[in-house]
Amino acid sequence: MKLNWAERLVVNNPLRVWEQRLEVQRLRGLMPLEPGSLALEIGCGRGVGAGLILKEFRPSMVHCMDLDIRMVRQAKRYLSAQKKKTSLLVGDTSALPLQSGTVDAVFGFGVLHHVVDWRSALGEIARVLKPAGVYFLEELYPAVYLNFITRHILLHPATDRFSGRDLRQALAQAGLSLRHALELKRFAILGYALKEG
Ligand SMILES: C[S@@+](CC[C@H](N)C(=O)[O-])C[C@H]1O[C@@H](n2cnc3c(N)ncnc32)[C@H](O)[C@@H]1O
Repeated sequence: MKLNWAERLVVNNPLRVWEQRLEVQRLRGLMPLEPGSLALEIGCGRGVGAGLILKEFRPSMVHCMDLDIRMVRQAKRYLSAQKKKTSLLVGDTSALPLQSGTVDAVFGFGVLHHVVDWRSALGEIARVLKPAGVYFLEELYPAVYLNFITRHILLHPATDRFSGRDLRQALAQAGLSLRHALELKRFAILGYALKEG
């Protein structure tokens, strides 16, 4: 689901850049990538995450994908200095336009909770990852984005949302084994999962 005006304000501001920088550095500290890796960022927004992924993880290439063509256009401008190491795609996380078993790492910052069929999206993430590939995730739970205030301001799917327990179960069902998670119990998770097998 695309962002409304209020959430565009929330994600497109310097505080979010600062927060995301800390998160990407933390994730790199937990699980660095091999040199020359191929990465995919789902729901890339305006491209800040991809810039940080390139700086911290040093992959050879990042595919940056978003459902919203306006976001992809912004990301293209934001990443123009790194165009040899980025490819921009418009697409849906529930049907990734990539071949199976081709990607070393998938990054998703605040994306899955926007996806109506988030379980299929996890299946797609597992499908495109190579064996032992990594899914780095930062996600929010409904207590943050569907509480009595935010449900009137932000725009998210309202049914079949996930808590930490649902997310853990669905990750395992998709063949993704959660290896490290910093979790604010009812609110948010930052961590990574490995593709089994
Ligand atoms: C909360 S924003 C996060 C943007 C960026 N990752 C960040 O952390 O600042 C969620 C992004 O996911 C995109 N999005 C929502 N549903 C999507 C889907 N099904 N497939 C791909 N992108 C999606 C939105 O357009 C939006 O850019």
